[in-house]
Amino acid sequence: MSDRTDRQSDGPRAAPRARTPAQALFRRLFVINGLVFTVGTLVLALSPATVSSPVLLAEVPVLTVGLALIVAANALLLRASLAPLDALAALMQRVDLLRSGDRLTDSGNGDLTHLIDTFNAMLDRLEAERSAASAYALAAQEGERQRIARELHDEIGQSLTVVLLGLKRAADRAPDDLREELHTVQETVRASLDEVRQVARRLRPGVLEDLGLQSALSALSSDFSAVSGVPVTRRVDPGLPALSGDVELVLYRIAQESLTNVARHAHATRVELSLTAGAGHLTLRITDDGRGGALQEGAGIRGMRERALLIGARLTLASAPGGGTDVRLVIPDAAERS
Ligand SMILES: Nc1ncnc2c1ncn2[C@@H]1O[C@H](COP(=O)(O)OP(=O)(O)O)[C@@H](O)[C@H]1O
Ligand SMILES: [Mg+2]
Repeated sequence: MSDRTDRQSDGPRAAPRARTPAQALFRRLFVINGLVFTVGTLVLALSPATVSSPVLLAEVPVLTVGLALIVAANALLLRASLAPLDALAALMQRVDLLRSGDRLTDSGNGDLTHLIDTFNAMLDRLEAERSAASAYALAAQEGERQRIARELHDEIGQSLTVVLLGLKRAADRAPDDLREELHTVQETVRASLDEVRQVARRLRPGVLEDLGLQSALSALSSDFSAVSGVPVTRRVDPGLPALSGDVELVLYRIAQESLTNVARHAHATRVELSLTAGAGHLTLRITDDGRGGALQEGAGIRGMRERALLIGARLTLASAPGGGTDVRLVIPDAAERS
């Protein structure tokens, strides 16, 4: 962002030189061609060589060499001048707004500077807009999750509790042959109530608000191990800096999606989850020893990237086939309290 304002404030100083890309290219081609023709003409004028009419056979090689030299010089100069266009096209093809900061540096090719600057500024703008749109969408998604979690807990949870109490009262007064059956129904309702509470907890990480990140990550790991049967080694630095609510939520959701992916895809035998503070940054890592090979990024991984971008963090995913998967989120200090 600051890049962009810098570039914009450069504007007035650069203004007298600024040409549209078409003008800049025209000028460059005109200058190069003019230069080559001038040198060719000077060489012709100053050298003792003459051309007869009609051309003598002995003069043909001289003319051919002269022409070849002019064409070659022209081609060399034009190629060097137009090279940045290839770099620009390559950047257009590879650019991914979820991996921010990929920019073209102007290698002193004066006339194309304006084109490169304009393109870089467009990327800045698109990245900022993309980031704002994801922030909005993610906030809406979190809001919706909270609403569903509340309704599950307060409405369905309450109704099931009432049903459970009614069943208990009925079972107490029922004849022996019916009591057994009512107990079975009671157990089924109790299991459903537990499931509803679990779903509500996954939707809204209440522990995050109530007990903080450490306990939330610990509950997440235990839930994961209980469901998947894969043990998690957890290492959370005791002296972590105070983090903003947004950063904590991003950390929690990325750990949650990574563990879900391990359970669904990895066939792992163990998982390591660590959150450590290093020099100037905070790192979350989720490593498994499963089958690896996560090459196709689906909605889950793209969602993680969007969340990372939201807090100015960098997400990398290493997943060699057969070599397990390593998800790493690095949050620079400046973003921690954002
Ligand atoms: N820990 C992992 N181990 C092996 N493969 C993985 C792992 N995480 C993700 N993948 C692969 O990457 C793909 C994309 O993951 P993701 O974007 O989360 O989408 P989804 O989980 O909905 O399939 C998965 O379909 C899976 O093939
Ligand atoms: Mg997934």
